[in-house]
Amino acid sequence: MSLIPVLAIDGPSGVGKGTVARIMAQKLGWHLLDSGAIYRAFALAVDARNIDVTDESALVEVANNLDLAFKTETDSELVSVYLDGQDVSKVLRTEQTGEMASKIASIGVVRAALLKRQQAFAKAPGLVADGRDMGTVVFADAPFKVFLTASAQERANRRLKQLQNQGSEGIISQILADVVARDERDSSRKHSPLKPAKDALIIDTTELSIDEVITQVSELIKA
Ligand code: C5P
Repeated sequence: MSLIPVLAIDGPSGVGKGTVARIMAQKLGWHLLDSGAIYRAFALAVDARNIDVTDESALVEVANNLDLAFKTETDSELVSVYLDGQDVSKVLRTEQTGEMASKIASIGVVRAALLKRQQAFAKAPGLVADGRDMGTVVFADAPFKVFLTASAQERANRRLKQLQNQGSEGIISQILADVVARDERDSSRKHSPLKPAKDALIIDTTELSIDEVITQVSELIKA
């Protein structure tokens, strides 16, 4: 069992895992792993190299040599993501990249190749990690596990608000369809499907504010 305490936060797309993970990492003074960003960056790298996604040895080679860096910007809570030395933070967050990541993340050899890179984030004094399989696979022995849920409609509403706050637009019916399709793919895949760990605290956030979710997660850690 790892000596570094890990708070694993899993759940479907648009549930607010990233926000909860960032606030908890700040509160605890722990490191932060946005594992979805790794899958997204990997998908961008594969796309940029025009690699056929059925060519597993080429995918593993890209995964093993992924030149990826996370940098916290001064005077900002935002983390910028650099792939091959280029700031890809903006394109990383698009629905299109999320879709590509979700498709490529279902391939077993890709998940295996990216496993150690994720586990290497566990450093003193602790780690808050968010994703789909933090509590079930990557940090299966984590002492703190949370699984966040919310209705698909609520998650689509949150995603639309997020896009609007970024100055972008979206069509709610399209966002909802994307959210449902991505959940279906992430939950039904053979390798590391999206599901709560047996020992995870499940929080339905549909009717909860961020503060209320943070209170519940903080209580789990205090307990
Ligand atoms: O969380 P985010 O939306 O950034 O993740 C993008 C995609 O990456 C997800 O839809 C999922 O398919 C994949 N992913 C994964 N395992 C993780 C994190 C993300 O399969 N731990």
